[in-house]
Amino acid sequence: MSEKIHVMFTEEQVDKKIRELGEQISADLHGEPVKLVCVLKGASFFACELAKRISAPVYMDFMYVSSYGNGTESSGEVKITRDLESPIEGENVLIVEDIIDSGNTLHFLQKEFKDRGAKQVRICTLLSKPDRRQVEVDVDYIGYVIPDEFVVGYGLDYAQRYRNLPYIGVIEL
Ligand code: IMP
Ligand code: MG
Repeated sequence: MSEKIHVMFTEEQVDKKIRELGEQISADLHGEPVKLVCVLKGASFFACELAKRISAPVYMDFMYVSSYGNGTESSGEVKITRDLESPIEGENVLIVEDIIDSGNTLHFLQKEFKDRGAKQVRICTLLSKPDRRQVEVDVDYIGYVIPDEFVVGYGLDYAQRYRNLPYIGVIEL
């Protein structure tokens, strides 16, 4: 169980990118409060760092969603396995995701949150793999667009491993 990992983005690069995203999001908020919805577990590292870089008032909530088993292919079916703590009706919601792959997870969440009456639902993802999209998703903020490779680190796992790497790397499977 020791796969080889090649660095794609260093810790310094990721930190700088998150600061830039935070500045952009802060500018767009004009001081209005925002609720960050972190999609667990992958986005937790990113969401915490991003929250620190937003100058408007930030509220945080967390949700467990599953569309993957322990493999690397999306099952297409999305389920909420642990819901938010509080309602989002009338709120400015920013969904924070680690990576958009097939698009199934965010397509589902965007609709779900609109149905719950959020005032606005925006999406911020650290990574996006557009070549893998099965459904279209409007993404407001993207850290990096990457090719179709399986990445780990900065919250992203392979069978629950490697989340704690401080950089983003490609795993040689
Ligand atoms: P989607 O619903 O197919 O867009 O899947 C998004 C979820 O799949 C992400 O939140 C990740 O948990 C997982 N995922 C997709 N690609 C990767 C990858 O390259 N590394 C680790 N997890 C991934
Ligand atoms: Mg995820």
